Amino acid sequence: MMREYEVRMTRPPHDSDAPPSHSSNAHFRDVARARLSRRAVLRGGAAAAAALFVGAACSDEETAGSPLDAGTDTGGPNLPRPDGSSPLDDAEVAKDAAVAEKPLLGFSAVPKGRADALVVPAGYTATVLFRLGDPLDSTTAAYANDGTATDFDRRAGDHHDGMELCPLDATGQRRDPRGSERGLLVINHENVTTWALHANGGTAGAVRPREEVDREVAAHGLSVVAVRKVAGRFEIDRTSSFNRRITAATSFEVRGPLRGNALATTPYSPAGTETRGTINNCGTGTTPWGTVLSGEENWASYVFRATGDDLVRSTVDPKSVVALRRYAATEGDGPFSKRWDSGGTGDMYARWNATVSAGATPDYRNVLNTFGYLVEVDPYAPRAALVKRSALGRMAHEGAAFRDPKAGKPIVVYMGDDSRDEYIYKFVSKAKWSDADREPSDRIATGHKYLDEGTLYAAKFLPDGTGTWEELSLANPLVAGFAAYAFADLADVVVNPRLAADAAGATKMDRPEWCSVNPKNNEVYFTLTNNSRRTTANTDGPNPRAYDDVRGAGDAQVTQRGNVHGHILRLAEMGDDPEARTFRWDVYLFGAEATSEAARVNLSGLTAENDFSSPDGLWFSPYSGVCWIQTDDGAYTDVTNCMMLAGLPGKVGDGTAAAIPYATDGGDGGARTVMARPGARATPATLKRFLVGPVQCEITGIAETPDGKALFVNIQHPGEEPPAGGVSDPTRFASHWPDGGAARPRSATVVITKDDGGRVGT
Ligand code: FEO
Ligand code: CA
Ligand code: CA
Ligand code: CA
Repeated sequence: MMREYEVRMTRPPHDSDAPPSHSSNAHFRDVARARLSRRAVLRGGAAAAAALFVGAACSDEETAGSPLDAGTDTGGPNLPRPDGSSPLDDAEVAKDAAVAEKPLLGFSAVPKGRADALVVPAGYTATVLFRLGDPLDSTTAAYANDGTATDFDRRAGDHHDGMELCPLDATGQRRDPRGSERGLLVINHENVTTWALHANGGTAGAVRPREEVDREVAAHGLSVVAVRKVAGRFEIDRTSSFNRRITAATSFEVRGPLRGNALATTPYSPAGTETRGTINNCGTGTTPWGTVLSGEENWASYVFRATGDDLVRSTVDPKSVVALRRYAATEGDGPFSKRWDSGGTGDMYARWNATVSAGATPDYRNVLNTFGYLVEVDPYAPRAALVKRSALGRMAHEGAAFRDPKAGKPIVVYMGDDSRDEYIYKFVSKAKWSDADREPSDRIATGHKYLDEGTLYAAKFLPDGTGTWEELSLANPLVAGFAAYAFADLADVVVNPRLAADAAGATKMDRPEWCSVNPKNNEVYFTLTNNSRRTTANTDGPNPRAYDDVRGAGDAQVTQRGNVHGHILRLAEMGDDPEARTFRWDVYLFGAEATSEAARVNLSGLTAENDFSSPDGLWFSPYSGVCWIQTDDGAYTDVTNCMMLAGLPGKVGDGTAAAIPYATDGGDGGARTVMARPGARATPATLKRFLVGPVQCEITGIAETPDGKALFVNIQHPGEEPPAGGVSDPTRFASHWPDGGAARPRSATVVITKDDGGRVGT
């Protein structure tokens, strides 16, 4: 979630109330455990290899020993298995030779469009697999899609978002990193389309019916659901004992610095070691040990605080007022308050109210400190603990991108905090990686080993194309001596990394969404979806654009300002060292409309085949090398619904710097020039639109089978805006996708395959 430039009815506009910063995905898989083998390149054919490496030889800045160096283990489309062999056995190699030789991005670009349909290239088929309400087992009734269902603990939740595929062996009982016929989809359910979820369209206001609250709580969280290939087609396996829901009522263990700290104490867990519920789960990441991380994003609006709570806190806990304001956890009813606290009495409802109570009555004043984390789930172990990983910081988490770990080095996790003017982070583990942990007997214990202790950093970008990682701990004098907030200990820092990054001088970014590591060279890509707060006066190198764009026509015409279309930034750790404190950066792509001004806006030279706005999901397929880009847009929607594109990036520094002149000052009263650092200009051979979704949807969530032949994608909240005629007039629904007819629209997972049986993306 979510769009900046459209009226939103069911979800808050991204942190619209968030105060400005106080300061002046694998996706590791089994990827690079051995790098892409030369054998795989040969099998992929010269054309594929060439297509994969467009732009890779354009810069002389690459550090010695980089995998991009000619003559080292250059990439190919099929990655080796853990044992080093090809993912295709020899018989498959012969059978697939003709298919494998087809070049990536060989498909015809899908045109922009506003149809209420999911459009994929000719030669591809998209099949709806798992919709809101679809049963997880064979004893749960089919979903009526009329707002009457009450058993979401056994059905798909709403607003499918980030997603991982955890492969299974042929029996469907055990993990097999190579398995391409069966797997477990782990799917985030970020939010709900209130009007379509309830029979009468839902009840707004400060008092919510218990039945609606219970349904919404249960429709949030995650699904774990098995898929299997039968007669060449994927289907949901409703017989699998792995199938389950995790919801906003499920218990989690608190780990890392917050565990047992006073900031985590609640009536549910006076010891501060447990908490209940995960909410607004957005992006995901697969850990090197096979579990899934899921990011809690816009959690602040789920918890109510009564008007006047700030005043009470200012006497009993004044630091908490600073922290709550920094995270936009404002008091009083906002327009998007869930008011789940009003659904009934007892702990299940009281926990959604963080108001400090009078007297000695236990209250949930600290409950907001228990949301905003990456949560870890072992899909293969339904009875294993679910964990909130506090060491990785509390923020508006999107996904978590792991670099392929090297034995004896720490593991590294990259993360974005999606709010206007927030930061990019990385976590470096204290524990050093052991390859024995790739297939451990206890995956959650392995998570404890690598994710309980480590160092959090925030990125500071310099205009010369370099940057630094600034440590967020009391060892950093800027953090320890921060005047605006006196950090008590490391728990206080990881609960409030926004404040720590303010202190450390990190760079305010244009809404960091997903990130992913390019398996070929370890460069890290971050989508910066857009920023209506970026002005001509505060543009800088990594966020260099602020401009006007017209949306719509006639009476509906509006002028959008700021970084309207977003961009995709990438960085390369200095020396390709995961522990590096410095990096180089540029901008892989600037979002734009093909007709946008070339000199200031369309800096990547986008054309009709590949123009896009508001990049959000981004994921490198470790199997094909394709960089998949998904949009969550409200700026270009007068022309097109949200989309997914396939890219074949080069590397940091492969483009030409561009000077953007601004007539307005940067605070000093004079005109100025900002130096943008675009990567190589896009062409249809390196960036092409692959998919356009139905009306009012967001395209998000992506996963792939290890053979690269099935791509799973989520279509979130089609037709989400409440219809003017209410639920009783289906003719006014903006979308009926995917069921058609007069049906209410609903979020869904689709699977995309190529009709010739080949790899997706060719
Ligand atoms: Fe859930 Fe920032 O997207
Ligand atoms: Ca989004
Ligand atoms: Ca997102
Ligand atoms: Ca426009």
